[in-house]
Amino acid sequence: MTSQPMRRSLWLDRPAPVGTDEWRSLDPVDVLVLGAGLSGLATAAMLAEQGRSVVVLEARSVGAVTTGNTTGKVSLLQGSRLSEIRDAVSRELAEAYVAANRAGQDWLLRHLTDNGVPFQERTAVTYAATDAGAPTVEAELDAASSLGLGVSARRTLELPFPITAAVGLPGQYQVDGLDVLDSLVRTVRRHGGLVIEGVRATSIESGNPCVVSTNRGEVSGDRVVVATGFPFPKRGGHFTTLEPRRSYALAFRWPGRALEGMYLSVDEPSRTVRDAHRADGSYLVVGGNDHRVGKGTPTSAQVDDLLSWTGTAFPDAVATHRWSAQDYRSTDELPHFGPITTGDDRVLVATGYAKWGFTNGTAAAIAISARLADARPDWAETLEARPPAFTKVGSTLGAGAKVAADLARGWVRAELRQGPADPPEGHGVVLRDGITPVAVCTVGGVTRRRSAVCTHLGGIVSWNDAETSWDCPLHGSRFDPDGGVLEGPAVRPLGD
Ligand SMILES: Cc1cc2nc3c(=O)[nH]c(=O)nc-3n(C[C@H](O)[C@H](O)[C@H](O)COP(=O)(O)OP(=O)(O)OC[C@H]3O[C@@H](n4cnc5c(N)ncnc54)[C@H](O)[C@@H]3O)c2cc1C
Ligand code: FES
Repeated sequence: MTSQPMRRSLWLDRPAPVGTDEWRSLDPVDVLVLGAGLSGLATAAMLAEQGRSVVVLEARSVGAVTTGNTTGKVSLLQGSRLSEIRDAVSRELAEAYVAANRAGQDWLLRHLTDNGVPFQERTAVTYAATDAGAPTVEAELDAASSLGLGVSARRTLELPFPITAAVGLPGQYQVDGLDVLDSLVRTVRRHGGLVIEGVRATSIESGNPCVVSTNRGEVSGDRVVVATGFPFPKRGGHFTTLEPRRSYALAFRWPGRALEGMYLSVDEPSRTVRDAHRADGSYLVVGGNDHRVGKGTPTSAQVDDLLSWTGTAFPDAVATHRWSAQDYRSTDELPHFGPITTGDDRVLVATGYAKWGFTNGTAAAIAISARLADARPDWAETLEARPPAFTKVGSTLGAGAKVAADLARGWVRAELRQGPADPPEGHGVVLRDGITPVAVCTVGGVTRRRSAVCTHLGGIVSWNDAETSWDCPLHGSRFDPDGGVLEGPAVRPLGD
C-alpha cells in the first residue's frame, strides 16, 4: 500500500471541472441561492424547472465543501439514524422524516435516470462487528421495519471479517457526487439560470427585494435560499442547534469484484465501505472516524487509523486518495428547512442532514420549491411545523453547554500553552501574545501568524494537521494557513 495517497476526494479528482458562469451586474431575480452543493443546486434546478429566474452564488467552487467529499450513498437505511430518530421525536415526525427521505431519493433517481447520470443499485447494510454493537443493529431493524422499510436481518456479509449482527435494505443506490452536481448545474443553465463560483455572501437584508452583500458587490432577489451547509446569518439561531461533525475517507485501487452492498458499522469508530467504478478503473471507498470539528487531534492519526484498518481487512487495496469532510447534526435529530425565522419566508434555509444529505438535501429542495409554488407536501408541513429545536430544554442545555465549555477551554489552553515560535513543517500551535491568542503554523516552509480567534463568534481555533487548516470547535468554521475561510458559518478571514 502506498503511503502517499492524493489529498483530494475520488469524486473531485476529475479531468473536467463543472465550471462557472461569469460574474455580472444582475437585475433582481426571483431566487438567489447561496451555495452550490447538493441542497443549493437541487433547489435551483427545481425552481428553474418551475420557470423562475435563479442565480446560484458559490463561495468556492461547485461541490468543493461537503457534497464533493462524501461517500455518495443514496439510502433510506442510514446507519442507526432511524432508531435514534424514533427515540427522539414523535411517531408522526419520524414518519415524516422517512417520507421526506423517500421523496428526496425518488426525485434524485428520476433526475439521474432522465439525464443519463450513472448510479449503481446496492443493498444498504447497517452492521456491527462487536457484541456491544449488536443491540443497536437490532434496534435499527425494529425501527426501520416499524416505519415501513422492507429491511431484513442478515447473518453473513461478503465483508472479509466476522460480524455480530446486520440489517439490510435492498434497492438503494450509490453515486459519484460530482456527477450529480454536474447534472444539476446543467439543468439550472438549460432553464436560463446562472451558477457563479468565487462569490461569498457576507450578509442578507430581508425585504422586497432581499439584498445580499458579497465579496463582489450587492445582488438582490425576491427570495434568498441559504444552502451554505451551516447557515451563516446569525438571526436564525442555528449556532445553538447544530453540531459540526467531521470524518475521513480513503479510496483504494482494488482488484476485487463489485460489492453487493454499501456498508456502515454502528461500532465506534464507525466504518463505511462501498465500491466505485470509473473510466480509469475500480475503487474501494472506506470511511469513518467521526468526531466533532476541532477535536479528534492529531487528525493525521485518524487517517493513519483508517489506512491501517483497511490494510488489515483488504490487504490487496492500494491507497490512491484521502479526504475529509463535515456535516451538521441537529439537536432534535431532524433536518431544518424553511423560513430562517418564523414569519420571514423571504429568506429560507436548508441544513442539518447528519451525513445523510443526498436524500435529506433533495427533500429540503422539494420542500422549498414547493413552498414557493404554494404546494407543500404533508411531510414538509409536518417537519416545518415542529417547535424549533432550541426551545427543547434538553437540547438547549446539551448544545449550549458543550459550546460554552469549548469556548472557555480554548481561551484557557491558549493562556497556558508554551511552544516554539516556529513550529516544524506541517504543525500549528496556539500561543498567547499579550491578551490575544495567536495561531502559528508552518506549511510549505513558510511560518504564518494569525489571530486564533474565530471571526464567527469568538471560538479559539485548533490545528488540523491532516488538512493543514485551523478548525473552530464551536460551530465548525475552518480557515486555511493564511486565515482564509474554507467553510462553516464564518464569513471573514482570521485577523492579523
Ligand atoms: C464524510 C461524509 C460522508 C458523507 N456521506 C454521505 C452519504 O454517503 N450519503 C448521504 O446522503 N450523505 C452523506 N454525507 C452528507 C452529505 O454529503 C451532506 O449532507 C450534503 O453534501 C450537504 O450538502 P449541502 O449542499 O448542504 O452542503 P455543501 O455541499 O457543503 O454545499 C454548501 C456550499 O455553500 C458554499 N458556501 C458556504 N458559505 C457560503 C457563503 N457565505 N456564500 C456563498 N456560498 C457559500 C460552500 O462553499 C459549499 O460549496 C456525508 C457527509 C460527510 C461529511
Ligand atoms: S464557528 Fe462559531 S465561533 Fe467559530
